Amino acid sequence: MGSIFNLSPFYIAKGDVFGKEQPIILVLLDITPMMPVLEGVVMELQDCALPLLREIIATDKEEVAFMDLDAAILVGSMPRREGMERKDLLKANVAIFKSQGAALDKYAKKTVKVLVVGNPANTNCLIAAKSAPSIPKQNFSCLTRLDHNRARSQVAIRCGVPATQVKNVIIWGNHSSTQYPDVHHCVVNMSGCEQPCFDAVKDDAWLKGDFISTVQQRGAAVIKARKLSSAMSAAKAICDHMRDLWSGTPQGEFTSMGVYSSGNSYGVLEDLIYSFPVQIKDKTWTIVDGLAINDFSRAKMDATAQELKEERDTAVEFLGV
Ligand code: LMR
Repeated sequence: MGSIFNLSPFYIAKGDVFGKEQPIILVLLDITPMMPVLEGVVMELQDCALPLLREIIATDKEEVAFMDLDAAILVGSMPRREGMERKDLLKANVAIFKSQGAALDKYAKKTVKVLVVGNPANTNCLIAAKSAPSIPKQNFSCLTRLDHNRARSQVAIRCGVPATQVKNVIIWGNHSSTQYPDVHHCVVNMSGCEQPCFDAVKDDAWLKGDFISTVQQRGAAVIKARKLSSAMSAAKAICDHMRDLWSGTPQGEFTSMGVYSSGNSYGVLEDLIYSFPVQIKDKTWTIVDGLAINDFSRAKMDATAQELKEERDTAVEFLGV
């Protein structure tokens, strides 16, 4: 996650996330052995001479890092290597999120917005939320915007249009290879005319086959090629997610986010962080309810929920939370 750590603060300090008028105090937390490296990041941020950046606090202490925070982006975790699934990181990483959740509970503002990125992101987010009982669960979300952007781009490339012409893809479930990228409600603007994705792409076999597996496996494909996990695209997705959380989603559009399931939407089990289509207004997300779900989608939505349930049960047993 090293490069995310460098890139996201840059975009944030530049005004791409919280707006061009919002002065920024950046707080960077890392483990003690990484403090000299973090100093390098601080130097570079200073050298960018960014007008909105008022202060940079670099620390290895949670009580300093989480004090009075308005927004927290939790990226710190062991990244996966080639051949691993994200859930293989469960035992290595989940303890970090228990500790950071507890520190948020103790030190951050109760209005803090917490975005969990470190993998397995959904389950880490659930553990952080459970470890911060005084902060509303509404304030926690995990990153599936990277998958959402991947799905959008795959359709756009196929149709020969910019990604901005593709709207309302959905990522359901886990940020893992069981996630379900769904285009049944997606529309593509082709030469000024909005068409359902299936009509625009004209290749149902691809949309129900290789498209889905490409998005599901994209993180692994990037790791195989780079020998490192995604950095630039992950940083961009973090910024997209936080910006929408802060400023809202555009009229008529939804995005995908891992959010707390209270058991009332789409038959998804309660007490999971599950990626749903959401709309955001006044810094509050709402699940877009009432979309038609066919049998093909239902089976895939249930399979990814089942994986999340197993991850949750393993994590809860491991941590005793
Ligand atoms: C990604 O999707 O690129 C990240 O979650 C990193 C990973 O392990 O795949």
